[in-house]
Amino acid sequence: MNNTNLPLTARPAWHDLKSHHQKIQAAHLRQLFLDDPKRGERLTVEAGGLFLDYSKNRITDETLKLLVQLAEQCGLRSRIDAMFRGDRINITEDRAVLHVALRAPRTASIMVEGEDVVPQVYAVLDKMTDFADRVRSGAWKGHTGQRIRNIVNIGIGGSDLGPVMAYEALRHYSDRSLTFRFVSNIDGTDFAEATHDLDPAETLFIVASKTFTTQETMTNAISARDWALKGLGGDPRAVARHFVAVSTNAAKVSAFGIDTANMFGFWDWVGGRYSMESAIGLSTMLAIGAENFRAMLHGFHQMDEHFRTAPFEKNLPVLMGLLALWNNNFLGAHTIAVLPYDQYLKRFPAYLQQLTMESNGKQVALDGSKVTCDTSPIYWGEPGTNGQHSFYQLIHQGTRLIPCDFIAFAESLNPRGQHHDILMANVFAQSEALAFGKTAEQVTAEGTPDWLVPHRVFDGNRPSNTILARRLTPEVLGQLVALYEHSVFCQGALWNINCFDQWGVELGKALAQRIVPELDAKTEPVLAHDSSTNNLIRSYRMLKGAS
Ligand code: F6P
Repeated sequence: MNNTNLPLTARPAWHDLKSHHQKIQAAHLRQLFLDDPKRGERLTVEAGGLFLDYSKNRITDETLKLLVQLAEQCGLRSRIDAMFRGDRINITEDRAVLHVALRAPRTASIMVEGEDVVPQVYAVLDKMTDFADRVRSGAWKGHTGQRIRNIVNIGIGGSDLGPVMAYEALRHYSDRSLTFRFVSNIDGTDFAEATHDLDPAETLFIVASKTFTTQETMTNAISARDWALKGLGGDPRAVARHFVAVSTNAAKVSAFGIDTANMFGFWDWVGGRYSMESAIGLSTMLAIGAENFRAMLHGFHQMDEHFRTAPFEKNLPVLMGLLALWNNNFLGAHTIAVLPYDQYLKRFPAYLQQLTMESNGKQVALDGSKVTCDTSPIYWGEPGTNGQHSFYQLIHQGTRLIPCDFIAFAESLNPRGQHHDILMANVFAQSEALAFGKTAEQVTAEGTPDWLVPHRVFDGNRPSNTILARRLTPEVLGQLVALYEHSVFCQGALWNINCFDQWGVELGKALAQRIVPELDAKTEPVLAHDSSTNNLIRSYRMLKGAS
């Protein structure tokens, strides 16, 4: 049954789902809710502090049963066990995938090649804690004896998106006497704007890079070193007080000139996009303190345990993964909108884009064959209610089906008059409008002239999930991120792809390396690209006055 070589579309449950879809495709959410008055209470699940209402999906109990069967036939249970056991499930890089070890309790034991990695995780966490405490208390001084007031994280991809998302998400808990900036883009504007009002004597740089070879990060780090040394009188010893590194690559860190005593390590079994709770989260810990950071880890761990142990029908990440797959592969939805109704989560959709699309944007199955159905949907989104006044028009009345994940909190961290009730009313109203719409009869009954009726009809039947939590805390953020991480894993397991490599980013990187000297050459270079690329390079050189 759980033959791993069988393409997903050849599984018996896939065929059953196909015919089931034929049967229910005309069913409207209006009818489904009428048929089962308790649907909105029944199709919900809770884990840790997160409550998921998935009743506004175009599914029946039969759909769920078949999706769970599909997961079972694809061996999801054994895939989950293999990940938690530390098997080398990232087969193309021959690595274990153990971000769950980063948030395991101190007393846990997780073996990788005969070695328990939990003590290593805690050794780094303790070192981070000590460092964060010293910076936050002012005990850690800069080269000129001033205390650190500005922290600039230099990194890109997983070494940026997690830290910046977590900083924004948990800003309420952050030390407001510290300024945090995040530099990721190779565009010099990013660095210039992040540092233009900072005093080098009070600025600490965290150079965050798993590999410590990423072109953007290394270029920005060199600019940062120049900027700091220039502002600090050129004494190279200043680097030790103003630069720390987060990496798996100690040799490269010390080649850059950062003392490895100021390096916070992690391991090749932590993927870049799964690293925000490793030492890559140093800026997060500096912002919110070690205790809050530990609370975030606890939240991650709670979701890990739920994912590992709960039956699939009650398993929040599994359900989210299966619903995403249903909407994508059976209803033909190409994208998922992630709509946090919380301003603090404004970078959450950007964070999820790397998590979801770098993980599951694959076209080859684990055995090297082409997949036989679409893989990752495109994730995108903006916080509510802002999005309502820009792209929701398309979600409500456009020709495309866009499943939505609404994320909201019962309590505001900044209660102010009626703001929060109005915000929440909008969340509930949007999912209601999407599901139930407004019929031509209803529009006509409002006295709308006939010619205008079609423009004002809302078809409804547009699926959404609503995730509710009491309050956005570090713990809840951990649960939320782990929820999406595991949902991505479930989808990848069913598509039988490797969620943990990213070969698709390599070609562009290699070509850019080749082009840099051609742009820089003092004399006209001999170009051997295609005619378009050659011409673009020549035009660029001409415009910048190189030749
Ligand atoms: O180019 C993609 C990528 O490899 C991501 O997977 C990773 O998060 C990012 O680059 C940054 O890599 P590093 O942390 O090694 O600098």
